[in-house]
Amino acid sequence: MTNQINKNIVVGISGGIAAYKSAELVRGLIKAGTNVRVCMTAAAMQFITPLTFQALSGNPVHSDLLDTDAEAGMGHIELARWADMILIAPASADFMARLSIGMANDLLSTLCLASTAPIHLAPAMNRVMWDNPATQHNLHILLQRGIKTHGPASGEQACGEIGAGRMLEPSELVHQSLTALACMDKPQFLQGKHVLLTAGPTREAIDPVRYITNRSSGKMGYSIAIAARDLGATVTIISGPVSLAPPQGVEVIKVESAEEMHTATLRAAKNADIFIATAAVSDFATKEIFTKKIKKSGEHLHLQLKQNADILADVSHQSDDLFTVGFAAETHNLMEYARSKLDRKKLDLIVANPVGEGKGFDQDTNQLEIIWHDGHLSLPEKDKQLLAYELMDIIVERYNSHFG
Ligand code: PMT
Repeated sequence: MTNQINKNIVVGISGGIAAYKSAELVRGLIKAGTNVRVCMTAAAMQFITPLTFQALSGNPVHSDLLDTDAEAGMGHIELARWADMILIAPASADFMARLSIGMANDLLSTLCLASTAPIHLAPAMNRVMWDNPATQHNLHILLQRGIKTHGPASGEQACGEIGAGRMLEPSELVHQSLTALACMDKPQFLQGKHVLLTAGPTREAIDPVRYITNRSSGKMGYSIAIAARDLGATVTIISGPVSLAPPQGVEVIKVESAEEMHTATLRAAKNADIFIATAAVSDFATKEIFTKKIKKSGEHLHLQLKQNADILADVSHQSDDLFTVGFAAETHNLMEYARSKLDRKKLDLIVANPVGEGKGFDQDTNQLEIIWHDGHLSLPEKDKQLLAYELMDIIVERYNSHFG
């Protein structure tokens, strides 16, 4: 992938076993096209060497406030000004405590004091330390000050305990950092507008324990919801079963089957201005749902399927003053099939993406062809969140030219 987001991130690493994950974080941020400089505390260097980060970031690692040679290269004030974002991962209990009282007793804490860039923390520590009222008090102060946190996640910890305190996975941190960078200074073009989305897969029950579904993770839909929210819209997702956390400030209505998605979407569409159908809705459901678990009998099992209603087509036919956007997931003849869906479903715009062979479904990246009745634009492969911001800009432009 090429350089897609020309932003500067200082990755701060404080002392904790999760510091080893920061190598992958730095790699992911560089791969996404950001410029990264790493600043380590003395404790962090006990866990992982600066050389690793120098090799990964392509820049010397900053660690010493009083090193005149390093200061001559890029002084701490210059570094503080260079940063568009400071991301501290892992953020230890000690570092959070020092940050909360404004200490400047090493380079990283000094940088945080000297910079006007937003500060983001990925806390990582033992679960008892995380739950300790002292840490929670410090967290409260930091949040009140506008510092953003990512995680911690729950699960098995390096110390063998189970609970909250694990650093978020590097890929998740990359995704959340890109989101934060991309929404900086976004004008609120959709203030007062309601954007409705469908996202994720549907599940069509066969019996009490089995169902028909597909590989959609909901990532594309949830990323677009975040982009719409950051443009000032009120956002609702009608979501099939996914393992994604509901985005902050977005209403998520959970459904399972295509029928449930159909009912919830048609109801919500009455109050929407823009509808974006990213869900991979099952085209078929079983004619009959068995009330008891089907037992093995013979070599074959014949299931009868019936066609599900087309949510997108029904929504677009229900209302003329709703701007409707469809998605087309195609393994071949991408443009041709997408254009025919644009006409057949009476849409204002369609977004085609190639799927199959590891593309589209359940991936962090995607590639889009955006088609409307007298225009077309290609967005090459990149992170779904970055694509979502670009797509929403185009939707706003088309929406304004349609209704403006
Ligand atoms: O969720 P991810 O893992 O991030 O993957 C994203 C994605 C590949 C699922 C997404 O980008 C995508 O392409 N979504 C549409 C998938 C799909 O079902 O495409 P389709 O070509 O079969 O359907 C065309 C359009 O009609 C879609 O907007 C779909 O939501 C809608 N539809 C289809 C059938 C139906 N019964 N009701 C519908 O609303």
